[in-house]
Amino acid sequence: MDKKNYYITTPIYYPSANFHIGHCYTTIIADAIARYKRLSGYDVFYLTGSDEHGQKIQRKAEEAGVSPKEYVDKIVDNAKDLWKSLDISYDKFIRTTDEEHILCVQKIFKKLYDQGDIYKGEYKGLYCTPCESFWTETQLKDGKCPDCGREVSEVSEEAYFFKLSKYQDKLIKFYEEHPDFIEPESRKNEMINNFIKPGLDDLCVSRTSFDWGVPVTFDDKHVVYVWLDALTNYVSALGYLSDDDSLFKKFWPCDLHIVGKEIVRFHTIIWPIILMALDLPLPKQVFGHGWLIINGGKISKSLGNYRDPREYIEMYGVDAVRYFALREVPFGNDGNFSEEALITRTNGDLANVLGNLVNRTIGMVNKYFGGIVETKKVADVIDDDLINEAISLKKKVDSYMDDLEVSKAIDAIFDLFRRCNKYIDETMPWILAKDEEKKDRLATVLYNLVEAIRIGTVLLQAYLPSTSEKIFHQINTDIKDFDSILEFGKYISGTKVNEPEVLFKRIEEK
Ligand code: MSP
Repeated sequence: MDKKNYYITTPIYYPSANFHIGHCYTTIIADAIARYKRLSGYDVFYLTGSDEHGQKIQRKAEEAGVSPKEYVDKIVDNAKDLWKSLDISYDKFIRTTDEEHILCVQKIFKKLYDQGDIYKGEYKGLYCTPCESFWTETQLKDGKCPDCGREVSEVSEEAYFFKLSKYQDKLIKFYEEHPDFIEPESRKNEMINNFIKPGLDDLCVSRTSFDWGVPVTFDDKHVVYVWLDALTNYVSALGYLSDDDSLFKKFWPCDLHIVGKEIVRFHTIIWPIILMALDLPLPKQVFGHGWLIINGGKISKSLGNYRDPREYIEMYGVDAVRYFALREVPFGNDGNFSEEALITRTNGDLANVLGNLVNRTIGMVNKYFGGIVETKKVADVIDDDLINEAISLKKKVDSYMDDLEVSKAIDAIFDLFRRCNKYIDETMPWILAKDEEKKDRLATVLYNLVEAIRIGTVLLQAYLPSTSEKIFHQINTDIKDFDSILEFGKYISGTKVNEPEVLFKRIEEK
């Protein structure tokens, strides 16, 4: 039987040398979802990439004395390196400077122009001449340029516009017919009440005041302005309008666009309207996640609360960082980041609950049975609760993942590990070990523990892949598929475990 397809995307990132832990959040949760879907048997395409055009980049390149392309070429690898160090399993990294993307944007622009959805008009704005930037009234600081603090003047520039307004009613109808299109629900209400109901303005889609962008083929003074360029990546990456559109045919429409809350508007208003105008099916869902914040505010280099995420990875391990991002931010809300909180999570859940459990269990198997895990099938009612919790876990995690409650999903897995620790307290293996007649019962208890650890770890693979591999190695199993955890007892009795290894070192609080 053919596998079902699943297409998931993150936003494409502005190239930067200063990514912070907040930036990693989107890619980590998308990665956990992509891995979970792969393990569930889907053929997954996970897309991420970089958004490289625009005046800001052009200016930074000028300051650095290089061409914009040289500038982005140099820093785009920073993102790839960061995603590698975070074990991000993307299938493609698209750059908006890729030839296939540029051609796709140009074809879309021309098509929309030819069918009358893009027209030429005049862009009016407040302009700062030294900074060569347009600002809106609300962006100004005390009525002056927010970048340099100088006076701005009202000027206008010839520009192309996209007729968003024409599709307004069709969009509202689409929302009504597809109640799950925007998640969480609160963001949908925000879109309708704050943006659509007051009436959509047509969108400026070209500029003449800078040239670092995709050129408009039929009017070479103009380059395509940001969002039309950026959003198109989701289809250009699949070869839409190219000679080979097999990926597009296979994976479009997208199953899930995961985006931060501040760009939900572009993904749930502008993007669907572009797709409607192109007569393409719309994505199935856009999920607007909350932010990682510090003391209620933004993370940023200028605020001095920024640290390269690779420093945390080096200090605490990749899965400490992944776990924090996945566990700390509740569905759709913001979550607070601090190094102390990262340390608390690592010490509490990772070192005390999981690390200790695996270490103690393997230690006891070595001590009492020379490393052999063998069930003697001496059951006790005390086992039932552990076994039931283990075999019902997949259903629970499936359901949280279907609702994109990633934080609850990973916590449910840790509930099983906590339950295992309780089982050790209940069964007291060290007491059983004192009585030769209880040896078979002791063997069964340790088998149950190893099997419950295996079941939890099979699910944990989607979230903490490197730790999961270490656990599989220590308990010496390659039975890692989702089907193997619906029943208790698939771990092969008689297996010899490998040497225990500390999974997470306890970190001294600073
Ligand atoms: N280039 C645009 C997206 C175009 S998509 C067609 C962009 N880039 S970005 O680099 O500024 O942001 C990329 C992602 O990082 C966004 O989803 C954004 O929400 C996320 N984050 C940036 N800071 C964040 C936090 N502090 N916390 C969580 N995510 C945040 O926007």
